[in-house]
Amino acid sequence: MSTAFASRASCASQLVVAVAAAVSLLGAQVAQAQTAAATTPAELLAGYAAEAGAPASPARGEKLYRTNFGKEMGWSCASCHTGNPARDGRHDVTEKTIKPLAPAANPARFTDRRQVEFFFKLNCKDVLGRECSAQEKADVLAWLLTQKP
Ligand code: HEC
Repeated sequence: MSTAFASRASCASQLVVAVAAAVSLLGAQVAQAQTAAATTPAELLAGYAAEAGAPASPARGEKLYRTNFGKEMGWSCASCHTGNPARDGRHDVTEKTIKPLAPAANPARFTDRRQVEFFFKLNCKDVLGRECSAQEKADVLAWLLTQKP
């Protein structure tokens, strides 16, 4: 009886150790994923420019931002992020407020690689009818970095 109890107790404690190990492994993986996605606007800009193989042009970025490419909804980036990306934007459909896109006005911008990639993909498809190239992303970001509140 006492042996059976002891062996069950040790079995239970092994289970606790295994669960604790699994939880800490999961925690480490989440932390690693977060670090992998964490970035800075400057780091992203350097990455896009390197991928494009050419320096970014803020002037070209501003032009892209303000251009209506004549797609379905007739949107430009400014339709939702407004003419001044250092100010609050307003979603063209939902009318929800969108926080400023310019990093100087909103330090959370361009600090999460996955979020940036997700919205570049979604918004470029809506506005240009295709994904933005690395050069276009570099240009827009370079221009946004010149915009102060
Ligand atoms: C139909 C409205 C709409 C249009 C048009 C639009 N956006 Fe956005 N954009 C959003 C919304 C909504 C979000 C997510 C909410 C938020 O981040 O505040 C967002 C987020 C982003 C982000 C994420 C930035 C970050 O670090 O969080 C980027 C980059 C972006 N937009 C770029 C663009 C560019 C470039 C264009 C033009 C090609 C564009 N957007 C056009 C609505 C729009």
